[in-house]
Amino acid sequence: MKYADKLISGFLLILLVAGANLLKGEEKSVVTKTDNQRANDHCLKCHAHNHFIYENTVAKKQVKHKMEPGLRIDTVLFYQSNHKNFKCTDCHSEDFGKWPHSAEVRMETPMLCLDCHGGDEKYAKFQFEKIEAEFAQSTHATRHGDSFSCWTCHEPHTYKISARNDSVINKIIAYDNNICLSCHNNVNKFELISDNAKPNIIAKHDWLPNQARHFQNVRCIECHAHKKDSLLVAHNIMPKEKAVKLCQECHSKNSILMNSLYQYQLKSKATGLGFDNEKMLDNSYVIGANRNIYLNRISIAIFLLTLIGIAVHTLLRIIFKKH
Ligand code: HEC
Ligand code: HEC
Ligand code: HEC
Ligand code: HEC
Ligand code: HEC
Ligand code: HEC
Ligand code: HEC
Repeated sequence: MKYADKLISGFLLILLVAGANLLKGEEKSVVTKTDNQRANDHCLKCHAHNHFIYENTVAKKQVKHKMEPGLRIDTVLFYQSNHKNFKCTDCHSEDFGKWPHSAEVRMETPMLCLDCHGGDEKYAKFQFEKIEAEFAQSTHATRHGDSFSCWTCHEPHTYKISARNDSVINKIIAYDNNICLSCHNNVNKFELISDNAKPNIIAKHDWLPNQARHFQNVRCIECHAHKKDSLLVAHNIMPKEKAVKLCQECHSKNSILMNSLYQYQLKSKATGLGFDNEKMLDNSYVIGANRNIYLNRISIAIFLLTLIGIAVHTLLRIIFKKH
C-alpha cells in the first residue's frame, strides 16, 4: 500500500512538473517569436505542410491542394539551422509573397554563399574563399558544373555546423555522411544531376570488412576528399580512383584520421597510459592505430619468458635424459 501511494504521488509530481514546464515553454515561444519568424509564417503556412489552401478566383471557392514534398520545409530544422534568424525573403524575392508565384520570380538565381560571406572578417575562420577554390577542383564541380553548387550539399533550409561545434564524434560522422548519402542513396536526387545510373554505395564498398561499422566510425570524406591541412573540412572530392583503399592509412600509428576527423580533439592532453593516437580512444579502438607501448613491452616480455622457459625445459630434458 505504502509503495503504491508513493508511486502514485511520485507520478503526480512528475506530471505536475512536466505540465508546468510545458506551460513555461509555450509562454516562452509566444514571447520570443521574432518579427522574422512571424513574417515567415506567411510562407510556411503553405510550405511547411502536405497541403495548402488557396482561393480559386474563377470558381470562387477555397481549394485544398497538395504541396509537393520537394517544396516542403521542415520548420523545426529550419529554426535550428545556421540561417535560422533569416526571413525567407532575405534569400528569396519579396515577390514570392504573392501566390500564384509569377513566372519571373520562379526563374530567380539563388544567392551564393560567397555573396554574403566572401571577404567578411567575421567568417574568416571558416575560410570560405579557400573552400570555394577546393570545391572548384572537386569531381562534382568539374563534371557537373552549374548543376552542382554549395547548396547541393548545404541544404539551404537545414544546414548547420557540426564538425566545429559537436563534441560527440559519432554525431559529426552521422551528420556529415548523411550529406553525401542523402544523394548517393537517393535515385531521384542523383539523377537530377547525372545521366548515369546511380552506383550502389554498399556494393561498391564491399571490400571493406564490417562496412556498417566503418561508415559509423569514419566519414566518406576521410577516404574521398583531398586533405588540406589548413581546412577543418576538406572540400576537394576526388575521382574514385584516388580514394583511400589501403587499410594502413588508418590502421597505423600515422593514421590519417588524426589529421582529419580527430584534428580538433588533438589539442587535449594525453593521459599517460601509453596508447598511440590516444584521442581516438574516446570514440574508437582502431586496430593498428591505438597500439600501447606498455602492452607492447609486456607482450615482448611474455614472449621472452616463454622462450627462456622452453630453453630451460629442453636443457633439463637433455640433462636428465634416461639412457
Ligand atoms: C498559398 C500558398 C503559398 C504561399 C503563401 C507561398 N508559396 Fe511558395 N509555392 C507554393 C506552391 C504551390 C509552389 C509550387 C509552384 C507553384 O505552384 O507555383 C510554390 C513554389 C515556391 C518556390 C519554388 C519555385 C520554383 O518553381 O522553383 C519557392 C522558392 C517558394 N515557393 C518560396 C516562397 C516564399 C519565400 C514564400 C513566402 C514569401 C512563399 N513561397 C509563399 C505555395 C505558396
Ligand atoms: C539562406 C538562404 C535561404 C533562406 C533563409 C531560405 N531559403 Fe529557400 N532556398 C534557398 C536556395 C539557395 C534555394 C535553391 C536550392 C537549390 O537550387 O539547390 C531555395 C529553395 C527553396 C524552395 C524550392 C525547393 C528547393 O528546396 O529547391 C522553396 C519552396 C523555398 N526555398 C522556400 C523557402 C521558405 C518558405 C523559406 C523560409 C522559411 C526559405 N526558403 C528560406 C535559400 C534560402
Ligand atoms: C543572404 C546572405 C547569406 C547567404 C547566401 C549565406 N549566408 Fe551563411 N550566414 C549569413 C549570416 C548573416 C549569418 C549569421 C547569422 C546569425 O548570426 O544569425 C550566417 C551564418 C552562417 C554560418 C554560421 C556562422 C557562425 O559563426 O555560427 C555558416 C557556417 C554559414 N552561414 C555558412 C553558409 C554557407 C555554407 C552558405 C552557402 C551554402 C551560406 N552560409 C549562405 C548570411 C548568408
Ligand atoms: C560534396 C558536398 C559539399 C559541397 C559541394 C560543399 N560542402 Fe561545405 N561542407 C560539407 C560537409 C560534409 C561539411 C561538414 C559539415 C559539418 O560537420 O559542420 C561542410 C562544411 C562547410 C563549412 C564549415 C567548415 C568549418 O570550418 O566549420 C563551410 C563554411 C562550408 N562547408 C562552405 C562551403 C562552400 C562555400 C561551398 C561551395 C563553394 C561548399 N561548402 C560546398 C560538404 C560540402
Ligand atoms: C546531390 C547529390 C550529391 C551529393 C550531395 C554528393 N554527391 Fe557525390 N556525386 C554525385 C554525382 C551526380 C556524381 C557523378 C556521377 C557521375 O557523373 O556519373 C558524384 C560523384 C562522386 C564521386 C566520384 C565517383 C567517380 O566516378 O569517380 C565520389 C567519390 C563522390 N561523389 C563522393 C561524394 C561524397 C564523399 C559526398 C559528400 C561529402 C558526395 N559525393 C555528395 C552526387 C552527389
Ligand atoms: C575506407 C575508405 C572509404 C570510405 C569510408 C568510403 N569510401 Fe567510397 N570508395 C572508396 C574506394 C577505395 C572506392 C573505389 C572502389 C573501387 O572501385 O575499387 C570508393 C568508391 C566510391 C564511389 C564510386 C562508385 C562507383 O564505382 O561509381 C562513390 C560514389 C563513393 N565511394 C561514395 C562514398 C560515400 C558516399 C561514402 C560515405 C558513406 C564513402 N564512399 C565512404 C573508399 C571509401
Ligand atoms: C578511413 C580510415 C580506415 C580505413 C581506410 C580502414 N579502416 Fe578499418 N576501421 C577504421 C575505424 C575508425 C574503425 C572503427 C573502430 C571501432 O569500431 O571503434 C575500423 C574498424 C575495423 C575493424 C574492426 C571491425 C569490427 O568488426 O570490430 C576491422 C577488422 C577493420 N577496420 C579492418 C580494415 C581493413 C581490412 C581495411 C582495409 C581494407 C580497413 N579496415 C580500412 C578506420 C579505417
